[in-house]
Amino acid sequence: MSNRGSFSSKIGFILAAAGSAVGLGNIWRFPYLAGTNGGAGFLIIYLICIFTLCFPVMIGEISIGRKAGSDAYGSYKKIGGGVWGYLGIYGILAGILILSYYNVVAGWAFGYFIEIVFGNLLDHNDFGAFFGSYVNDIGPIFLFSLGFMVMTAVIVSQGIAKGIEAANKIMMPGLYIILIGLIVYSLTLPNAMAGIDFYLVPKLSDINSKTLFYALCQAFFSLSLGMGCLITYGSYVTKDQNIVKSAAIISLADTSVAFLSGLMVFPLVFSLGAEPGQGPKLIFVILTQAFQYMGPVVGKIVGGSFFLLICFAALTSTISLLEVPAAFLVDQRKFPRKAVVWGLSGLIFVLGLPSMYSQGLVPLLNKLPIHNTPDFLSFVADLCDIMLISGGCLMCIFIRNNWKMNNMNEELAIGNAGYTGSILKSYITFTISWVCPILLGILSILVITDKYFGLEWLFGR
Ligand code: TRP
Repeated sequence: MSNRGSFSSKIGFILAAAGSAVGLGNIWRFPYLAGTNGGAGFLIIYLICIFTLCFPVMIGEISIGRKAGSDAYGSYKKIGGGVWGYLGIYGILAGILILSYYNVVAGWAFGYFIEIVFGNLLDHNDFGAFFGSYVNDIGPIFLFSLGFMVMTAVIVSQGIAKGIEAANKIMMPGLYIILIGLIVYSLTLPNAMAGIDFYLVPKLSDINSKTLFYALCQAFFSLSLGMGCLITYGSYVTKDQNIVKSAAIISLADTSVAFLSGLMVFPLVFSLGAEPGQGPKLIFVILTQAFQYMGPVVGKIVGGSFFLLICFAALTSTISLLEVPAAFLVDQRKFPRKAVVWGLSGLIFVLGLPSMYSQGLVPLLNKLPIHNTPDFLSFVADLCDIMLISGGCLMCIFIRNNWKMNNMNEELAIGNAGYTGSILKSYITFTISWVCPILLGILSILVITDKYFGLEWLFGR
C-alpha cells in the first residue's frame, strides 16, 4: 500500500473527491438539463436522487476502495474474486469514454477563457451564432482540447499527494466566491424573479419519466459515481478517516455548486429574455451576453475569471477521470506511472476526436440515426450515463450478495466510533441492499430498451 501513495491529510482526500465531483457537470450540464427538463421539477427530483441513491452509492464505493486498497479492477477482484473484476473494467471503460468527450467540452471552456481575455469575444452581437461557429472552428478547438489533456496528464503523472492533492487545494475555493458574486449580480437585473420562479417553484406537470432519467443520470455524473472513480480515490484513504462524514461533505459541496449555478443562470436567462431549454450551449450563450452587459473592462475581468475557474473545476475532474485507468495499469501491470499517463492521454484524446468533429463539421457525425441523440458527442454522453447507473446498480448487488452488508458496515465503523447502532447505518444498509439496486436496475433496463431497442416507454417518439 505504501508505495502506491496515499492522501497526505484528511482534508486532502475530501478536497480531491470534491474536486472530482465539482466540474463541468455542475456548471455546464446541470443548468442546461434543468433548463430543458422543467426547472424546479428537475431540481427536486435531482435532490431526491442525491439523498436516496447517490449518497449510499458513494459510501459503498469509497469503502470498497479503502478495504481493498487497489484500483477499480483490483478492488473488485480482491474482495469478490473472479468475474467481479470485470465490473471494474466496465467502470474503467466508462471513465475513458467520459474523459474523451469531457475533454472536448473543457476545450470549449478553455477557448472561451482565451477569447474573452485575449480576443474580442465580448464584441459579438449574436452569442448563439458565435457558439455554433466557434465549436466548429476546428483549429483552435483542437489546440485547446489538446492543451487541456496535456495539463491533466502533467498533474496526474506527478502522483497522488504531489500532483492531485496540491492542485485541488489551490483550485477549489475561488469558485464559490465568483459564483456568489454572479448570483448577486444576476438577482439585481430586471425580470430576474421569473428565473427564480422557473428554478424554485415546481409545477407538477413538468415532472415525467424523462425528468427522472435525466436527473438521476446527472446526479450520478455530478458526484463522479458508478465507474470506480471513488473506489480508486478511496484506496488512497487512510483508516482513521470517517467515510460517511467525508461522503456527506463531498455530496454537500457538489450539490451546493450545482444549485448555485442554477441560481446564477436562470435569473440571467429570464432577464435577457432567452430560452431556458436551448441545450448544451446555454451557459456559453447566456453568460457571455451578461459579461457583455457589464461593459468592456468589467466584462473582461469577470468573464475571464469565470471561465478560468470553470477550467480549474474541469481540470480537477479530468484528473480524477484519468487517474482511474492509470491506477489500473500501474497497479495491475506494474507499468511506470509516467508512461501510462502519457500513453492513455494520447489514446483518449484521439478517442475524443469524433466528438469534437460532431458539432456540424462532419455531417455524418452530426445526424446519427438514434432517437434523441443527434450528434456523436451526445451519443457517447448518453451511453456513459447508462454505464454509470447500471455500474452503480451492479456495485450495490456486489456489496449485497458478495462482499455482504455486515462487512461493509464493519469497514464503515473504522474511523467512525458511533456508526454501529446508528440510524445512519440502518439507512445505508437498507438503501444499498434494496432501494438502490432495484430502482437503478429498473431504470437501466428501461433506458437501454428504450434507447437502443426502440421500446419507447421513457421518451416517446
Ligand atoms: N463529476 C464531474 C463533473 O461533474 C465529472 C466526473 C469526474 C465524473 N469524474 C467522474 C463523472 C467519474 C462520472 C464518473 O463535472
